[in-house]
Amino acid sequence: MSEQQVTPSPLPARKRILSGIQPTGTPTLGNYLGALRNWALLQNSYDCLYMVADLHALTVREDPAALRRNTRELAALLLAVGIDPQQHVLFVQSHVPAHTELAWVLACNTQFGELSRMTQFKDKSAKHPDNVNAGLFTYPVLMAADILVYNADLVPVGQDQTQHLEIARDIAGRFNGVYGPTFTLPEGYVPKAGARVMSLGDPSKKMSKSDPNVNSFVLLTDNKDVILRKFKRAVTDSDGVVRCDPAAKPGVSNLMGIYAAFTGQTMEEVEADFAGKGYGDFKAAVAETVADALAPVQAEYARILADKGYVDGVLRTGAERAARLAGRTVRKVYRKVGLLQLD
Ligand code: TRP
Repeated sequence: MSEQQVTPSPLPARKRILSGIQPTGTPTLGNYLGALRNWALLQNSYDCLYMVADLHALTVREDPAALRRNTRELAALLLAVGIDPQQHVLFVQSHVPAHTELAWVLACNTQFGELSRMTQFKDKSAKHPDNVNAGLFTYPVLMAADILVYNADLVPVGQDQTQHLEIARDIAGRFNGVYGPTFTLPEGYVPKAGARVMSLGDPSKKMSKSDPNVNSFVLLTDNKDVILRKFKRAVTDSDGVVRCDPAAKPGVSNLMGIYAAFTGQTMEEVEADFAGKGYGDFKAAVAETVADALAPVQAEYARILADKGYVDGVLRTGAERAARLAGRTVRKVYRKVGLLQLD
């Protein structure tokens, strides 16, 4: 017998995930399939910090009462989709001062030119020419602070945020170069392009709740009747065959993608199931599947939201835990850049 001993190796530390979502109203089915559902799944493999990015929401003028309500509602919805505030950290960005503290130092290490190149800044300033505020411009710096303050390894974001993640890496790398190793360089965790849910009214556009056509998006809180109506009106084509071909049949392909995301089927299986059936039957089946899948989330949401005290308690604990982690980074950064610390 060999003398070799098998010592159980310690479990490797889990990688850390951070992500945020802005409290700008009820999330859509697209937000759910593209982000929130994955946030819940990622909890099995990572240490997760999930944040309601209320400070980022200020870059667009908001009714204060609506922002406050949306923030609490979004936190309740995150709990309803399965975010576990015991094992992970759920908090509101403005409750953790370290984000804005770090953002200032990072802003002083970010060039005007690189912020000017951000496509979201260019798009948003074109869209709101009356309110091109400095917060809109420095938005990516705050987002970099959100990520770097926790030394997050992975950041799940949509395609539209990949440029912001890149600049966060650039800022981190540059800071490390000047002041010595400080920040972890975060990696993006971007869902495949095909995972994007498109507008039901115009499948060439992403599903968005700011679309003036209310039938083009499904909100997570839409009831079954509304969901059935919206899918019934979804734009398809005149070919009448349920087949996936995003270029030639974007509407049908989008509906198939939504259906497959809930049933776990491949596109081929969906095609086979609806072979010889018309779009009417197909749309009704998609709508039923979506409504049935959302029903338990909606029930949980109503239950949780009815208990404001619970939601606020979760957020208070989350902010304390997040602040402990983030505070360490800010102290380290303040020391490195030469801000006087009293002991
Ligand atoms: N800017 C992100 C969005 O609009 C939200 C966000 C803020 C975020 N801070 C973040 C996402 C940090 C990931 C990491 O979608």
